[in-house]
Amino acid sequence: MTDKAVAAAKGLQNVIVGQTRLSLVNGTEGKLIYVGYKIEDLAEHATFEEVIYLLWHGELPKRQQLDELRRALQAEMHLPAAVMGMLYAFPKTATPMAVLRTAVSMLALYDPKADDNSVEENRRKALQLTAKVPVIVAAWERARNGKEPIPARPDYSFAQNFLWMLKGTEPQPQEAAVIDAYLVLLSEHGMNASTFSARVTTSTLSDMYSAMTTAIGTLKGAAHGGANEEAMRMFFEIGSAENVENWFNTYVKTKQKRVMGMGHRVYKALDPRAAVLRRKAEEMSRATNNMHWFNLAVKLEEVARQDPEFIEKKLYPNVDYYSAIALYTLGIPMDQFTPLFAIARMPGWAAHVLEQWADNRLIRPDVEYIGPMDLEWKPIDQR
Ligand SMILES: CC(C)(COP(=O)(O)OP(=O)(O)OC[C@H]1O[C@@H](n2cnc3c(N)ncnc32)[C@H](O)[C@@H]1OP(=O)(O)O)[C@@H](O)C(=O)NCCC(=O)NCCS
Repeated sequence: MTDKAVAAAKGLQNVIVGQTRLSLVNGTEGKLIYVGYKIEDLAEHATFEEVIYLLWHGELPKRQQLDELRRALQAEMHLPAAVMGMLYAFPKTATPMAVLRTAVSMLALYDPKADDNSVEENRRKALQLTAKVPVIVAAWERARNGKEPIPARPDYSFAQNFLWMLKGTEPQPQEAAVIDAYLVLLSEHGMNASTFSARVTTSTLSDMYSAMTTAIGTLKGAAHGGANEEAMRMFFEIGSAENVENWFNTYVKTKQKRVMGMGHRVYKALDPRAAVLRRKAEEMSRATNNMHWFNLAVKLEEVARQDPEFIEKKLYPNVDYYSAIALYTLGIPMDQFTPLFAIARMPGWAAHVLEQWADNRLIRPDVEYIGPMDLEWKPIDQR
């Protein structure tokens, strides 16, 4: 392999590793499509449950199909007693993503068919995991605050139930709508890093729980799903819209820091999800009478988008930028932003695992060795 080829493949940029029917990410034009439907239409009109059906069945559900899926998800919104017990035994200082990663892995221990990789069993696991992940996230929030878990309600949608189990208060329609839109917008996204890792794990003929545990571990990083929490921490560090330029010049222009929630491997135009989430963040900020963080984020976007380097490198807000403001305004704890991303992405990951199984071949790339050669073996006391 030539140096040029190695450089071109670094980070697997632009490398096509397979085919999918799930989503199209058009980075040049800033477009995202799930199974033929524009993300803007889905965010405006679809519920998360409809999108789950779309991803798992390749078409939008009819009313009865949707009702059945809702009931099936609702019926699985609980945890094995041992897993719930472990959540209450974990150290209260554990981070929510580490808890989620561990608890999802634990679920396999209570599934006698964890290693049955038939389509039927994998579909069942996809449904159960999608339903149980919000229970884990919400229960951990309760557990670390010394509170009892709150059972899901049969009359609530997926989004309403998440808020209900997390906070224990009746979710306001606007809050639930923002969560629903967030879940829809983040449920699927081509060959992103966590999806890729789930597919790699699956390609070795490993099980759905292992693939999901891998995916959660990959999502956790600040270059991927962890960026929403980091974006909010950055807004806090900046403090006020008045301090944006000073912060940008001090840290970003000197390469000490990146603007978290900006830039993307594929999007070289505005991330279409960011445009929707910006509107949601603004609506929530107005509704809660707190424009402070939204205004700061808008100012930072303005400063960044006028910067010659950002213009040249085509750095725009990505999905994590305004979602941080929307989620913060909803009262979601900052370290629960990424777990919420995992809740949203679970059906997308599961759909990719099913797709991988349908046409599997071991994913095993190569690497160019550049280490030393022909060294002479030396006994230990001669080294
Ligand atoms: C998402 C991300 C990891 C993509 O990385 P990538 O495709 O590997 O791009 P690179 O890290 O090679 O960055 C390309 C150039 O843009 C710059 N850049 C990328 N994102 C930047 C950001 N958020 N702030 C400042 N500069 C940035 C890099 O410094 C690099 O400049 P250089 O070529 O002069 O060294 C990157 O944009 C980033 O770190 N963003 C912040 C974290 C984030 O929001 N992640 C969520 C993604 S959905």
